[in-house]
Amino acid sequence: MKLLVINGPNLNMLGIREPGIYGTESYEALCKKVRDYAAARNVEVELYQSNHEGDLVDKIQAAWGNTDGIVINPGAYTHTSVALLDAVKAVGIPTVEVHISDVSKREAFRQVSYSRAACVATISGHGLDGYIEAMALLIDKKAP
Ligand code: DQA
Repeated sequence: MKLLVINGPNLNMLGIREPGIYGTESYEALCKKVRDYAAARNVEVELYQSNHEGDLVDKIQAAWGNTDGIVINPGAYTHTSVALLDAVKAVGIPTVEVHISDVSKREAFRQVSYSRAACVATISGHGLDGYIEAMALLIDKKAP
């Protein structure tokens, strides 16, 4: 099994950006957690981060035919990007949306998620553990 874990804009700044909201652990620490969990579950994982919407679309498209599940934190593009929604729909790969913070308890503009409509599940507000929960859902095929 191969999983792709995608992070959108500003998630490379984890540990630096708004630590009260996103915590003090770095993007590299997140990558290590994801890689360690993948190794423990005996699955292949690729990590990708970009601040650019089109690059994220390209990465999702490139997963077609070679990836069994996607975990995506689209960052701010969650709330704006029809292109990312369409890309996930286009490839038809089971995808779980993750947010480190509980977006449901934040500003009104964060209540809207374009990506959600293409995702089999959304995990929000569980910190970095949300990525692991999302991987577990895909590996165990417990996502609806
Ligand atoms: C986020 C929430 C988004 O609203 C925000 O723009 C992010 C991170 C989260 O992980 O909580 O960049 O997706």
